[in-house]
Formats: sequence, structure tokens, C-alpha cells
Amino acid sequence: MKRILVTGGLGFIGSHTVVELQQAGFDVVIIDNLCNSQAFILDRIEMISGHKPVFYQTDMCDKIKLTELFKNEKTFDVVIHFAALKAVGESVREPLKYFQNNLSSLMNLMDCMAQADCNKLVFSSSATVYGFPDELPVKETAPFKKALSAYGSTKQVGEDMIEKVCATGSMKAIALRYFNPVGAHESGLMGELPNGVPNNLMPYLTQAAIGKQKSLTVYGNDYPTKDGSCLRDYIHVVDLAKAHVKSCQRLIDDVAADSYEYFNVGTGNGISVVELIQEFENTNAVKLDYTLGERRQGDAPELYADASKANEALQWKAEKTLADMVKDAWRWEQNVAEMEK
Ligand code: NAD
Ligand code: WQD
Repeated sequence: MKRILVTGGLGFIGSHTVVELQQAGFDVVIIDNLCNSQAFILDRIEMISGHKPVFYQTDMCDKIKLTELFKNEKTFDVVIHFAALKAVGESVREPLKYFQNNLSSLMNLMDCMAQADCNKLVFSSSATVYGFPDELPVKETAPFKKALSAYGSTKQVGEDMIEKVCATGSMKAIALRYFNPVGAHESGLMGELPNGVPNNLMPYLTQAAIGKQKSLTVYGNDYPTKDGSCLRDYIHVVDLAKAHVKSCQRLIDDVAADSYEYFNVGTGNGISVVELIQEFENTNAVKLDYTLGERRQGDAPELYADASKANEALQWKAEKTLADMVKDAWRWEQNVAEMEK
């Protein structure tokens, strides 16, 4: 059985990926310091897959603990590195916290991997590396624009660091550039657990629908788009999780010509904020209280993927619909409300 180390494996995307890996026959070990996740997700993983992964509550910035973990576990066939802080606004206010956490954890990880003769890595990158792209749908060949946030810098620098390590021949890696991950597991047992007021549209929307947040504001209705609101490429978290399974398999099969590869992971569809709201209302038969408001600073008017490179090389394609995304996100929000009663 191939063994995969999943860092940040109790977080939103990590937990869904752990389940997909287990269901594809991989043995999984998780590291997470629980700074943005909760321990009960480990039980939820077991409820869905029937297997409880080995779990280390470890901070990846603690090099001594990370070295011990690798000594204990010997090695892994592949490491998937999700662990990072991801709040864009907070990263603008506290850039050093983001450089420290996101870059130290990656450097520590690559060093421990080298010591343990573990040389295959999948890295969580982001469409944020493109900034405001010149052409849409955005292809992987589009240049990185100057990052508008420290968070964005950590993804650009992270990719650059990995590429340079791979160039020495000591590592093979795949960076996945996610567009807008949303939705939840269809079992209703796992989903996103934002800390405080959510920054992202989908968790804010579901919390507004359940009455946890006040009325939803659509940030901008005068963009040059089909209805004036911004377009994004929303991707169901389970489809995204499956792209990681395919990436692990590609690294294990050792079929890539290049030691470092990078892929967009999106559906290719540009969906407006208003369209997403309408889909939520129609699919779930829930009326949302929303207003059309001012633009949010730093938002690109449109950002959606050309995912053909991942479609071909990874033999992966997003399968879930926008209706699945809003249905699963809503089911999860209702279950969270039940848990909190
Ligand atoms: P998340 O916050 O739900 O998961 C990240 C997990 O990493 C959390 O469980 C957190 O506790 C853990 N973690 C953070 N720092 C750690 C450290 N130093 N040591 C150990 N564990 C640590 O976030 P997510 O949405 O699942 O995102 C996963 C990855 O995908 C991140 O790298 C993020 O930057 C990237 N990404 C996310 C999105 C998105 O919109 N969710 C989009 C693009 C890229
Ligand atoms: C989506 C759309 C908003 C909230 C961010 C990061 C990116 C990546 C994914 C990590 C935008 C609009 C939002 C609200 C709204 N994360 N909106 N009202 O900004 O595309 O991407 O998450 O890598 O790096 O920047 O996602 O969910 O915040 O916004 O109208 O209350 O919803 O203007 O058009 P974004 P989002």
C-alpha cells in the first residue's frame, strides 16, 4: 500500500483529499497543528472511509518535531502540502506571520523530505499567482503578476522554491493552482469551518442564509461582465480532492517528462456572484437577503481557468455541477448549525 503524508490534512481541502486518497487505496498520515481546523474531523474521516489515519498534532514550523516525525515514519511515497494560512486580508495586515508560517513550513518540509529520501511532492498553489491576468481563460503560461498580498507572495515564492529544488534533480513535484474551492462532502459530515466572519463568498452566503451573518453584499455591480458582478471559477472541493489523487498517481508512476509541473484546477466556467446566489436560491429553495454594493478593493473582475493541461496530463476533469456545490455547501451549513445547538 502506498503511503501519503498529508500536511494540513484536517483542513477544508485536506480532509476531503484524505478521504479520496483512502477510497483510492492509499494509506494516509496527517500532520496538522489545528490552527484553522478541528480534531473531530478525524472521526468524520473515519466515518466516511472506515479508516482512521495516523494523526500528528504538529506545527510544521517546529523543525525538531517535524524531523522526529520523519524519523518515526521513515518515508512516504508522496507528500501533499496543504498546511498554510490563507486569509488574504489578514496577510496584508500581518505579512510576516504569513511569510513565517507558509514559507518556513515548506522549507522545513523539503529539508526533512531530503533527509528521509522522500522525493515526491504535491503543493497547494492558487490562481492568485496570476493576479489580474491579461487573457481569459487563464493558461498556465500566463506570467505571475506582482502579488497584491503577502498570502499571494507565499504561493509565488513557494512555487519558485520548489521549482529550484526540482531543478537539482533531487525532487519531483506538481503544483496545483486552485481556483475557487467550494461545496462540502455529500455525506454532510465534512465541509469548510471558517474562523470568525468568513472572507469567502460561499461560506458567507451559507452563514447569511442560516442567519449567522447579516445580509450578503455583492461586491460591485458595474464590472464589464454579463451582469456587472465578478466572475470566478468555482470548483467543488471533492473534484479538487480527486485532482490530488491523480497527481499522486502521476508522481508514483513517474511518467512526467519534467521534474516540476504545474496545473490549473478549475472547471473553466466563469460564474458571476449573482448567478451563484440565484443557483443557491433555486436549488435549495431558500430566499437570500442580499444587496448590490461597492467593489471590494483588489478584486479581479474575472478569473477563470483554462484547465485543459490538467484534463490531459492528469486525466482529470471536474464533474460536479454548480447545483451540487450549492446543495452540498447548504447541507453542511445546516449540519453545523445542528452541531452548535
Ligand atoms: P484550511 O485552513 O482549511 O486548511 C489548512 C490546514 O493547515 C488547517 O487545518 C491548519 O490548521 C493547517 N496548518 C496551517 N499552518 C500549519 C502549520 N504551520 N503546521 C501544521 N498545520 C498547519 O485551508 P484550505 O482551504 O483547506 O486550504 C488548503 C491549502 O490550499 C492552503 O495551502 C491554501 O493556501 C490553498 N488554497 C486554498 C484556497 C481556498 O480558497 N480554500 C484556494 C487556493 C489555494
Ligand atoms: C469571490 C467573489 C468577491 C464575498 C480568494 C483568494 C484566492 C483564493 C480563493 C486562496 C469575488 C465576491 C465575496 C462577499 C461578494 N484563496 N464576494 N461578497 O477573492 O476570488 O479568491 O479565495 O488561495 O487567493 O483571493 O474569493 O470567495 O472572496 O470572492 O460579492 O461577501 O465573490 O468580490 O468576486 P476570491 P472570494
